[in-house]
Amino acid sequence: MKMIQTQRKSSQEILHLFDEKEIDDSWSFDGFKPSDTGKWTHSYHRYPAKFIPQLVEKLIDEYIFSENAHINDPFMGCGTTIITAISRGFKGSGTDINKIAYLITKVKSTAIEPTYLDRKIKHLLTKLRFLDGSQKSLSYENIEPLIPQKHIGRINYWFTEKNKNELGIILRAIYDEEDETIRDFFLVAFSHTLKNCSIWLQGSTKPTRDLKKNPTKPYNALRKHLKKMQRGNDDFYQVILQKVKENLKEYLNIKAQDAKIQPVADNSVDLIVSSSPYVTSYEYADLHQLSTIWLDFAEDLAAYKKEFIGSAYKHCNTKELKSSIGQDIVNKMQGKSKKMAKEIETFFIDMQEVFAESYRILKKGGRCCYVIGDTMLKGVDILNAEVFAESLQYSGFIIDRIIKREIPLKILPQKRDLKTGRFANNNDANSEAYPVEYIVIGLKK
Ligand SMILES: C[S@@+](CC[C@H](N)C(=O)[O-])C[C@H]1O[C@@H](n2cnc3c(N)ncnc32)[C@H](O)[C@@H]1O
Repeated sequence: MKMIQTQRKSSQEILHLFDEKEIDDSWSFDGFKPSDTGKWTHSYHRYPAKFIPQLVEKLIDEYIFSENAHINDPFMGCGTTIITAISRGFKGSGTDINKIAYLITKVKSTAIEPTYLDRKIKHLLTKLRFLDGSQKSLSYENIEPLIPQKHIGRINYWFTEKNKNELGIILRAIYDEEDETIRDFFLVAFSHTLKNCSIWLQGSTKPTRDLKKNPTKPYNALRKHLKKMQRGNDDFYQVILQKVKENLKEYLNIKAQDAKIQPVADNSVDLIVSSSPYVTSYEYADLHQLSTIWLDFAEDLAAYKKEFIGSAYKHCNTKELKSSIGQDIVNKMQGKSKKMAKEIETFFIDMQEVFAESYRILKKGGRCCYVIGDTMLKGVDILNAEVFAESLQYSGFIIDRIIKREIPLKILPQKRDLKTGRFANNNDANSEAYPVEYIVIGLKK
């Protein structure tokens, strides 16, 4: 493996390094089918901007040589890194501020004994079968739907009366399940179906209503998705080592909290593989609002949104921005939009703090791998990857390697809106795809 440098690079050298960088085809994973990228538990729940397990597997193959490795991801999302770590018999730790992401990661990491799960799924579906009109059910027909009243306004905004009540009945039946592992498994299935059962505009990454939409019936959606998850669980169960199945708590250490605080000791992690949020692109809190309101995950939605790094709602970070490439970008944006300049500055400073935490937890010789693409906002190039490389140095890292990879179009989730920089739908003419991204790798010497 080629080492790029042994001492700190200037901002000019970093910019030059990226300019010169050629695409490495071995990182595009072009030949992989959805059945490969969605194997095991990876198709449990949709998640925007998740990466594919093959990318994490390749980084682990290149950098991990010990049997007892510990892999961390401060921005777990739906848990691609964590599940991959667990599947190899390694420890997986990490955080995500999004409570739905935490739940998904927990459930996706937990392999359930297949016959037990089968029994539990059949039991739930039998209770609820009256919802599709095909069979009477003894106790559940007169059940009171469980509809979180705190968010009733939002629920009425997104769901028809019929689906709202049906979802409430399903939720009641799920909470009646006593085994927490099974209950969480059901909740992930429930959460995944919410978009199709609502009048959320199909395929939209922005919260937009489609008043003409004919939403899917909740019971049918749940049954179909539970079957899919069950197949994923059964495959995953086969690959997980017995010692991990029996002592999952020793291998899985994840929290729903800020990326700046990892739940692990100093110098304890071998490898970090992560993809951060982008500045003002996805509003994760908005995107997952259907799940957040139904699962009652936020006391105050407005306050919750402010914790998300990269969000336009984020609290300002008034610490000093150390990256001069970053400062340059902020200065250029000042002339276009002071508000956006502040958002970008806050984003870079937030990331600076996350990198310092990465440095704290890594062992000497350990690496952090941040997957990130450059973007454009209001005509200003947002050189995220270059800023990340420079910022990693300020935390003490050496820039070990930069990988430039092409994202095959069928995997590329979205294009970006040229004006706002937000992710747009693939068929939006006013948007531009970013088929290239970087893996910025820092080494703790
Ligand atoms: C690009 S996604 C990560 C996707 C992940 N690699 C996967 O495969 O699913 C970025 C994640 O950062 C999370 N995030 C945003 N602000 C955060 C914060 N302050 N602390 C921790 N996670 C945060 C978002 O909720 C989102 O899940």
